Amino acid sequence: MDLHLITGGAGFVAVNLARRLLARGDAVLALDDLSRGRRELVAEFERHEHFTFRQVDCSNLDELSTAIDEAGSQVAHVWHMAANSDIPAGVADPRIDRDRTFQTTFAVLEAMRRHQIPELHFASSSAIYGDMGDCEIHEDIGPLQPISNYGAMKLASEAQIRAAVEAFLPRADIFRFPNVIGVPATHGVIFDFVHKLRATPDRLVVLGDGTQQKAYLHVDDLIDAMLHVSGLDGRYKVFNIGPKDEGVTVRMIAETVRNRVSPGAEIVFGQGNRGWVGDVPRFRYSTRRLADSGWAPRLDSSQAVMRAVDEIARAELKD
Ligand SMILES: NC(=O)c1ccc[n+]([C@@H]2O[C@H](COP(=O)([O-])OP(=O)(O)OC[C@H]3O[C@@H](n4cnc5c(N)ncnc54)[C@H](O)[C@@H]3O)[C@@H](O)[C@H]2O)c1
Repeated sequence: MDLHLITGGAGFVAVNLARRLLARGDAVLALDDLSRGRRELVAEFERHEHFTFRQVDCSNLDELSTAIDEAGSQVAHVWHMAANSDIPAGVADPRIDRDRTFQTTFAVLEAMRRHQIPELHFASSSAIYGDMGDCEIHEDIGPLQPISNYGAMKLASEAQIRAAVEAFLPRADIFRFPNVIGVPATHGVIFDFVHKLRATPDRLVVLGDGTQQKAYLHVDDLIDAMLHVSGLDGRYKVFNIGPKDEGVTVRMIAETVRNRVSPGAEIVFGQGNRGWVGDVPRFRYSTRRLADSGWAPRLDSSQAVMRAVDEIARAELKD
């Protein structure tokens, strides 16, 4: 049995990852400062003998080191999920991305060096690419010019990990996620629409004109892809993770949520094709490397949206 440390362990992706790792017989140490994650999201594991949760600020090396020391056995893998996942919040105050996204990576790497932990799996993002227009975005494209602090700090984290692999870290995987959806949702477009409609059941105000088109991956497929990549050979592996299609529009998502939650509501679109600073209206994401490695998602973007809308509405509206 391997011990897996998950940073940001009370967040959306982390909870789904912990469930899968525990189900296959591994042990999990989940660390989260609860800045966005919630303790009740890990409640389902609390009685599991191989699961431990600690409230820890992972940007603080001393706190992180103490938690690793107290783990009781050697940590074999770190899944670094801790980050600020609220892009507009980071635009308003760049210290949030510096501290929660970059500084956690910096501290995690130093803790791995000190504690001789051999494998890092990092949740990066398509946001590192910035706005590439109609270019097909593959893993080796450049120059990389992120257009949000969030993307900038993810890219800086990747650079720091690459340097660590040269200096001391035996293995690292970089997963560049698209938009990931499912439950337990902590943020994201579907989650926002459900909450807006709960507050005002007769109208749904959408940021931007609804033409933004993005790829969406269901979290079950994401976890599958991460576990698949982590089992491949290689010292430093970089993978775009996503569905094979070019995505769905915000309009389609708004209509799907409206039809599920409040069918009579009017949808009011904003101006322009960017919902917020750092929003990319359209990108063509290449997942060929992932496909060539032998992995395929079960759901395309539109199936993932339809399933996640139902899951999130059920969870948030308790219906
Ligand atoms: N969900 C997506 O669509 C998506 C897309 C691209 C990348 N990612 C990345 O995947 C990872 C998981 O995302 P998520 O959607 O589950 O977000 P999330 O916000 O649910 O999870 C992130 C967790 O990190 C925790 N955290 C933040 N700062 C911390 C700190 N200093 N110490 C300890 N914990 C801290 C938060 O409390 C939260 O629980 C993140 O790194 C995110 O940037 C997610």
